[in-house]
Amino acid sequence: MADDRDFGTDEFVTIDGQRPNSARMYDYLLGGASNFAVDREAARQAAAVFPHFRIAVRVNREFLGRAVTYLVRQGIDQFLDLGSGIPTVGNVHEVARRHNPTARVAYVDNEPVAVTHARTLLRDDAYSAVADVDIRDPARVLASPQVAELLDFSRPVAVLAVAILHFLPDDQDPSGMLAAYRDACPAGSYLALSHGAQVTLTDQQIADFQAAYARTPTPAVFRTETEIAGFFAGYEPVDPGVTLLPRWHPEQPVSERDAREANLYGGVGILRG
Ligand SMILES: C[S@@+](CC[C@H](N)C(=O)[O-])C[C@H]1O[C@@H](n2cnc3c(N)ncnc32)[C@H](O)[C@@H]1O
Repeated sequence: MADDRDFGTDEFVTIDGQRPNSARMYDYLLGGASNFAVDREAARQAAAVFPHFRIAVRVNREFLGRAVTYLVRQGIDQFLDLGSGIPTVGNVHEVARRHNPTARVAYVDNEPVAVTHARTLLRDDAYSAVADVDIRDPARVLASPQVAELLDFSRPVAVLAVAILHFLPDDQDPSGMLAAYRDACPAGSYLALSHGAQVTLTDQQIADFQAAYARTPTPAVFRTETEIAGFFAGYEPVDPGVTLLPRWHPEQPVSERDAREANLYGGVGILRG
């Protein structure tokens, strides 16, 4: 992929191909082709210190699919996907539409490759849209036409914050951000999230992993299970609560070792009236 190029849409985008980016590193680790050499090198650096990293990104993506399936089965037909990433296997609208062909999905990301690919993919999709907005600015996200014209906030909405909060240090107030999205949603809405945690990783592995992400615009922040559970403030976590990610509604039995090696926690919560 060349830098500063048009991706076949009617808009030109400027891409920072000199610096690795979490969206493109994630794409590479999932086997995608929308990444640069700097992304692949940084991803390999992170995977060298966290041997289960490649498995962890798949564990995360599988959780996203299970959470969306769960939500749509609860009757949710509107999704606000914060930090949605580069389109890849199991996009939210694809999973949701297996159960509800008119489920609406507003994707939000601010990485140009992610936004451009998603817009190209969804060009003819009347029930999906892509907002190119920083998720740390909820007022702008909620007022963007791609969100405001697609989602009806008088009815329940599922907010997805999957593998995104660990890119927001405390001084960027991720809890305040989530509260703003929560307060825009009516009772019966949901929050689904996943987050990196130190489960089996040593302090040295964490430090080396963070060094790889320090080259990107988004630092990697590890939080404890308790801190991650705190992101559900105002929501009531559904069974089994905040848990090691492979243990959330698994489709097949998960060994203790596999559950821990992903170093991820997450869950789904409902907003009660
Ligand atoms: C690891 S990917 C997760 C993608 C998807 N949520 C998933 O779990 O499969 C994180 C995404 O968050 C996006 N992102 C990071 N910081 C962001 C911000 N402040 N505003 C919008 N998107 C952001 C990145 O561009 C990237 O696409």
